[in-house]
Amino acid sequence: MRKAFVIVTGMLLAVFALQFVFAAVGAFTRPGGDGSYTLHSITGMAVIPGLCLLTIVCAVLARAPGRVLAMTVLPLGLVVLQALIAMLARAFTDASGASTTAGLVVGGLHAVNAIIVVHVVVGVLRAAQELAAPAPTVQVAQR
Ligand code: HEM
Repeated sequence: MRKAFVIVTGMLLAVFALQFVFAAVGAFTRPGGDGSYTLHSITGMAVIPGLCLLTIVCAVLARAPGRVLAMTVLPLGLVVLQALIAMLARAFTDASGASTTAGLVVGGLHAVNAIIVVHVVVGVLRAAQELAAPAPTVQVAQR
């Protein structure tokens, strides 16, 4: 199960990297419209939360220590926050629907939170790899 914990966390990290690519796809799509961020939305609202949950299940089944378990739960919380930040950024538009300074500042936090969550997942991956590494054997010198 410890190997599965490493593999699933590695997959989660890869999907987070892809999520940055999908953000760029949204930003560079011309003409920009409601569908520009579809891939980013689906990955952020369904694929990533699902993989976060699977990572937590793997950590529990791998009997990860409390500190590692807490670190594994953190990405799910940060992803929920990520969706809330996106909604809040969209809510801060003026009467004509144009973006406001407040909305852009909140939107910037979405990018900052993305960097933070990736760092946390890298930490979880390192911890999972340590947990899966074979215990060092102690050599007893024979006379
Ligand atoms: C890597 C972690 C990220 C996650 C988990 C994530 C997740 C999300 C989620 C859940 C939404 C809301 C989708 C919806 O309401 O349908 C969203 C929207 C958005 N995200 Fe991200 N995101 C991430 C990174 C980024 C990055 C790095 C950028 C760009 C700097 C970005 C730009 C956006 C934009 C512009 C929207 C609004 C799209 C729209 O209004 O249709 N995201 N993101």
